Amino acid sequence: MSPITKIGVIGAGQMGSGIAFVAALRAKCSQVLLHDPNPTQLQAGLKHIKAILDKDAGKGRITTADAEEAFGRIRPVGKDGIEEMDKAGVGMVVEAAPEKLELKRSIFSELSKGLASSTILASNTSSISITKIAAATIPAGVAAASEEAKRTAGRVVGLHFFNPVPVMKLVELISALQTTPETLESARQFAIACGKEVTTSQDVPGFVSNALLMPFINEAIMCLDAGTATRDDIDKTLKLGMNHPMGPLQLADFIGLDTCLNIQKVLYEGTGDSKYRPSILLERMVDAGWVGKKGGKGFYEY
Ligand code: CAA
Repeated sequence: MSPITKIGVIGAGQMGSGIAFVAALRAKCSQVLLHDPNPTQLQAGLKHIKAILDKDAGKGRITTADAEEAFGRIRPVGKDGIEEMDKAGVGMVVEAAPEKLELKRSIFSELSKGLASSTILASNTSSISITKIAAATIPAGVAAASEEAKRTAGRVVGLHFFNPVPVMKLVELISALQTTPETLESARQFAIACGKEVTTSQDVPGFVSNALLMPFINEAIMCLDAGTATRDDIDKTLKLGMNHPMGPLQLADFIGLDTCLNIQKVLYEGTGDSKYRPSILLERMVDAGWVGKKGGKGFYEY
């Protein structure tokens, strides 16, 4: 199995730009093609990458030459992104688009049509079923049990990075029902090359990470709603009592309350278990447009 040296990244938001950063700097991929359909987002993603490379060089963690080289290996690509990735001969594409099943299914269908059959197709989704995404790569009229479908869907895998990607040490690897052992191993090697520790989860709602994290956050919001303790005391309890870097309410704001709600709904609907019912306060805050740090207001003001 040869290491992946050229990759494509779909989406230049926080996650996609972070993935491009670790692929270029840590995995030393010779080419990182960063695609976003929105030119403003693409420029913002590049600016973010440049800023963290400059900060690392400023702190003497890497040389200025390392920073310049890594940045030079990242190539922004616009609307012909998939065509460019095919021309470059990327070994893997990591999708980091918004968390919408139909959007991801359409991206994976396009990727599967536009790229060589050997290209690994990874999704950075934090909760959407990788099995459903993989099924979208099978062309219409091709039976899911056929050899062609097995090959096509077998190269799809979940590669779940954590925010902020340059800092967080983990990648959660998710195996869909269709994922081949070779795909899983290539994806694992890529994550290791990016400097990450790897855990593996089966394709269940929320995988391991969010099946544990989201009920914890949801329970903290229920505690606040019930008046058990104040916002500050809930966060302080977990920060100082359990050594968490952020309390659960601050972390919910950091992740995005809309994202937390979506993941909690995936857990609730995907399992049918009432223990995952989203907190009413979480629903109301999202209804109000108070989505956390990115929106200027959540449990805290920014
Ligand atoms: N990109 C790159 N680097 C970043 C960054 C970003 N977006 N945000 C912070 N950093 C860097 C800072 O520049 C700083 O680097 P230096 O050491 O070079 O100075 C370092 O991280 C520490 O930052 P700060 O000193 O500003 O603040 P801190 O010590 O409080 O750490 C934190 C910030 C790393 C975010 C820390 O609070 C933390 O670990 N919080 C928990 C984060 C977490 O749980 N993330 C997972 C969320 S869940 C998820 O992503 C997946 C999902 O499916 C929902």
